[in-house]
Amino acid sequence: MQEQLTALLAQARTEFAALRTRPEFEAAKARLVGPNGTFTALLKQMGTVPKDQRPALGRLFNEAKAQLQALFEVALRALEDAEIAAQLGPPVDASLPSPDGGPGTGHPLTQVREEMCRILHRVGFVVADASEVETEFYCFDALNTPVDHPAREATDTFYFPDAARFANVSRRVDGEKYLLRTHTSSVQIRTFRRDTTDATHSANFHQLECLYVDRGVTVRDLKALLDYIFASLLGADTKTRFRPHYFGYTEPSFEVDLSARHLPKVRKDWIEIGGCGMVDPAVFEAVGYDPEVWTGYAFGMGLERLAMMLYGIDDIRYFYQNDLRFLRQFT
Ligand code: DAH
Repeated sequence: MQEQLTALLAQARTEFAALRTRPEFEAAKARLVGPNGTFTALLKQMGTVPKDQRPALGRLFNEAKAQLQALFEVALRALEDAEIAAQLGPPVDASLPSPDGGPGTGHPLTQVREEMCRILHRVGFVVADASEVETEFYCFDALNTPVDHPAREATDTFYFPDAARFANVSRRVDGEKYLLRTHTSSVQIRTFRRDTTDATHSANFHQLECLYVDRGVTVRDLKALLDYIFASLLGADTKTRFRPHYFGYTEPSFEVDLSARHLPKVRKDWIEIGGCGMVDPAVFEAVGYDPEVWTGYAFGMGLERLAMMLYGIDDIRYFYQNDLRFLRQFT
């Protein structure tokens, strides 16, 4: 009987290794341990064995039963794995590039930002960027913006809860509030504002800021640089115009308008593009520079508006929707 048991186990092993489907598995299992199964039949013969041999044989049967059980489990798991693999289809290497992605391209805002940086590099400027989280000192106080200025109100600026901490953003004053920078005038390129979104305004936009400090800098230098960069980006026919304005951190201050009727889709004669001015003496003092010695100019402008003029885009929201039909036009 022991030999029969060994033979039965050997056969079961080969049979179960070759199973392909669940019905096959169920049938093979029934042939062994079902009511008319071969193993069941052997077990029934236990009654005919002399009493003194029964304990040893019982142990053998128990071992064989455990081995069969293990065999069933392994076979069932293999079937389940095969079923899942069939559902998943052929193996895929997820690290390979997508077969239908096509060549990528820079976003139009990235292209305009990089072009502006190239233009400014040519005349010696370097790029500085900083965190989008700012503190009140850098965003307002150091820029000569009084505490009661409307831009500082919670309706115009996103402040963080007092408990928030940003290890990479240093604070000048204890307990100073963190906020999302409202402009790049604190040396930043990207800003958040509480503007209602429409075709030409967005709460989140990209800004280019420029600062030049030296002895004897004049408004002529500022105007010459602006003429140069806009002609470089938009073409020699582009004109710039200054309108007197107020910014706390420059004196005098101007708003800058562009005329670029040679560009397709530019319908208005003058389009406001940014703010500028001569660095206010109070700003020099706030950062420890002697205003009797140092002079400078600064300006900030929205990259969205420049990209809209350059490419003839008539709605700012296209920049953020990531619609490939839009983005593919800028390859
Ligand atoms: N910070 C201003 C804004 O966001 C733009 C600006 C105006 C920047 C004058 C400047 C400047 O550097 O001198 O509207």
